[in-house]
Amino acid sequence: MNLLSDTLRPTVLSKFKANHNTFIETGTWLGGAVAVALQVGFEHILSIDVSVLHKETLTERFKDFIASGRIKLIYGDSATILKEVVAGLQEPSLFWLDAHYHGPGMAGPVPCPLYHELEAIGQSPIKGHTIMVDDLRLIRRHRAWANAVSLDGVLDRVKAIDAEYVLDYADGHVASDILVAHR
Ligand SMILES: C[S@@+](CC[C@H](N)C(=O)[O-])C[C@H]1O[C@@H](n2cnc3c(N)ncnc32)[C@H](O)[C@@H]1O
Repeated sequence: MNLLSDTLRPTVLSKFKANHNTFIETGTWLGGAVAVALQVGFEHILSIDVSVLHKETLTERFKDFIASGRIKLIYGDSATILKEVVAGLQEPSLFWLDAHYHGPGMAGPVPCPLYHELEAIGQSPIKGHTIMVDDLRLIRRHRAWANAVSLDGVLDRVKAIDAEYVLDYADGHVASDILVAHR
């Protein structure tokens, strides 16, 4: 099992953590980004995955943090569940949007729920969320699960959430693979 995310490096997450206490991930997979968020010092970590393939392993892996309430693992389609999560937020949070088709048993109703997720974040009355979107190398080329989304489509939706967002590009799988929208 990957202990840390093979995409989201602690140095990158630290750089954009700023004063955020809450980390919200879509696409838990093996819990690598949850572990990075713990390492970087987030007080509240929520992660959503449509697949229960790794539920038992993850529940065991993070059992102490789940028991203390620092980690919450949620199972369901982020396209619908993120709205409920956003509605419960009390403060600007950092979102790591990384849910997409990932092989048999790891798929939601659509190959990539990203536009629904951005719409959910846009409904938040709280300003100042930081939004990180992974896999720009695929989104830019409409590859594989990203065939129904585009970088322009993502940027339009991000700017509609907050016209004052500053946009950065951070390294992930490849250079500049992560979009970061922040104040
Ligand atoms: C690339 S993996 C995530 C990697 C992880 N975020 C990391 O940094 O290590 C993509 C995950 O998205 C999940 N997924 C796919 N569609 C989803 C949806 N609609 N809602 C929530 N999770 C979804 C898959 O089950 C898979 O576990």
